[in-house]
Amino acid sequence: MAVAVALSGGAGVCAAEVLDVKVAESVAPIAPTMYGLFFEDINYGADGGLYAELVKNRSFEFPQALSGWQSFGQVEVLTDDAPFERNPHYVRLSSAGHGHKYSGLQNEGFFGVTAVKGQEYVFSVWARLAEGSRPAKILAEIADPASGRNSQIAAKAEIKVESGEWQRYECSLKPSFDVDNGVLRVVLGKPDGGLAVDLDHVSLFPADTWRGRPGGLRKDLAQALYDLHPGVFRFPGGCIVEGTEIGDRYQWKNTVGPVENRPLNTNRWHYTFADRFYPDYYQSGGLGFYEYFLLSEDIGAEPLPVLSVGLACQYQNNSPEVHVPVDSLQPYIDDALDLIEFANGDTLTTWGGLRASMGHPEPFGLKYLAIGNEQWGPEYVERLAPFVKAIRSRYPDIMIVGSSGPSPDGDKFDYLWPEMKRLGVDLVDEHYYKPEDWFAGSATRYDSYDRRGPKVFAGEYACHGKGKKFNHYNTALLEAAMMTGFERNADIVTMATYAPLFAHVKGWQWRPDMIWFDNRSMSKTSSYNVQQMYSLNKGTDLLRLTMDGRPVAGFDGQNGLYASAVLDRGSDEYIVKIVNTSSEARTVDIRLDGMKRGSGITGVDVMRLTPTSKVSALEGTNLECHSEIVRESLSAAELADRLVREGKRTVVLKDYAVPAESFVVLRLGTK
Ligand code: AHR
Repeated sequence: MAVAVALSGGAGVCAAEVLDVKVAESVAPIAPTMYGLFFEDINYGADGGLYAELVKNRSFEFPQALSGWQSFGQVEVLTDDAPFERNPHYVRLSSAGHGHKYSGLQNEGFFGVTAVKGQEYVFSVWARLAEGSRPAKILAEIADPASGRNSQIAAKAEIKVESGEWQRYECSLKPSFDVDNGVLRVVLGKPDGGLAVDLDHVSLFPADTWRGRPGGLRKDLAQALYDLHPGVFRFPGGCIVEGTEIGDRYQWKNTVGPVENRPLNTNRWHYTFADRFYPDYYQSGGLGFYEYFLLSEDIGAEPLPVLSVGLACQYQNNSPEVHVPVDSLQPYIDDALDLIEFANGDTLTTWGGLRASMGHPEPFGLKYLAIGNEQWGPEYVERLAPFVKAIRSRYPDIMIVGSSGPSPDGDKFDYLWPEMKRLGVDLVDEHYYKPEDWFAGSATRYDSYDRRGPKVFAGEYACHGKGKKFNHYNTALLEAAMMTGFERNADIVTMATYAPLFAHVKGWQWRPDMIWFDNRSMSKTSSYNVQQMYSLNKGTDLLRLTMDGRPVAGFDGQNGLYASAVLDRGSDEYIVKIVNTSSEARTVDIRLDGMKRGSGITGVDVMRLTPTSKVSALEGTNLECHSEIVRESLSAAELADRLVREGKRTVVLKDYAVPAESFVVLRLGTK
């Protein structure tokens, strides 16, 4: 082993470890689908989260039609002659009598209606005059009854309803003060007799959504996704794909077309954990498959939808009769084929035409489709088989993703991998929510995988700290360590998505999560920073990196050091990632062997993950340790000091100090 003496300050004097990088040979291309996002409506990730709608139960379709609403005066829930057949409930406000007896209702939003002073909000409602009613006014108010101010009302506007036909009305609201835990109030304008107005799909959105789309996504949260530059975007889950019962499964066809007519679905995360019970958690479908495809396009990620294979959640259903019999799967297979047509089909086709009518005549360019989420056993294999056959025969270019079950080892896993090979799926989805020691020891996991079969999709993973399942710096560091193993096996690991993505601080069911948020702001975790450091530095080609002739993967004697290297052809940079999980600073020499004759290293830019004491503004996030990504460049003097040429084709960056418990990415430029 080559040994040098560290010159850098801070780390003390210690022997440098030599990282040998062979830069002339591309071991494998880095898949453009690395590193990606997993999205599920868990932890209020969609309704109450990314989907910017501020009204809960806007269509009065929760099993208790007025859940989330407080009514006053004369309010009835009706269904006859409703405007939207798949959401048949609406309310009738009738004048309550004389004086100040108002009729109306107010919505509590998701953990309160939150609105920012001076910003614009779009209130909309479908309305008609009930038979025999005189023209009426509807007042829309954003109010904060608990604000302690003279006036509770931060913003108000009115609409005039003059027709007996259902119509959409819209007006703008601009709060005069910040509202944190407020309500949206909808009131029949005059209390006098003779008035009755029917209302449905009562909605309030910020005007300033992601890309300015009306009824769109929360801007800060979508921006956080964009900033990760993800290679793939997996949606809509997760367990919600399956349903606790087959009828609750996610049905994509219910989530396209006009939002008003997308039927409500239950959300299993409202009851899955008795100690995290959220009885008001449903799926409105407002963030549906069209929006998911659009978001994938916006953030530059390949869309990866996951569809039901006809199995209800196997954790909760042991008896075979709750699943769809194999000979009755055709409608499910049709859903898969129709989805491909929706995403890619000509506008003259049924589903391609629907896509065009929703505003996207161009195909979305769907390439990947997963069938089944966390399924297992022969019951999965026998159902997946007819899907594979049908998709291959109609759409041979679509890459199919199959499951390896809920854990990355054990009987279910061992049974499924050979079966996935036999069925000829293109990728196998692996899930691992595992403790620190598992992550520390798994950077070599893929070194011995069979290269002749399907590729690996690490479709759900996160390091769960023992006894403290919340985000902390150390678990993120171990995720970074394991990910050197993804990179080192770039020929077989072609997709990876941390999970879950979002969590509302007041409504989570599962942790850790990548991004925490409340109604106003968000906090990116150390895991987010790790993902970003990988995605911004994914490069184009894997390079061989060894220390003493072995991969650097936390082996005995390597004392918690992990490393991998890639080339970025676009910028002509060598990118070296080093994770030091030990409590001692380490000094490394980075030896670039096989450089083009006459070429040298002209600059070194560094991104370094480092803990910070800055605490998130969000309450209750339990982010034990925050981090930030420090960016720095080695100065000309440091370069002159540190860069040593050995012969014509080797350059060594000497004595780079890697702090204890840190993750660093070095970009060594050649231009
Ligand atoms: O990510 C949370 C859950 O973990 C997913 O819904 C499921 O696929 C897995 O069990």
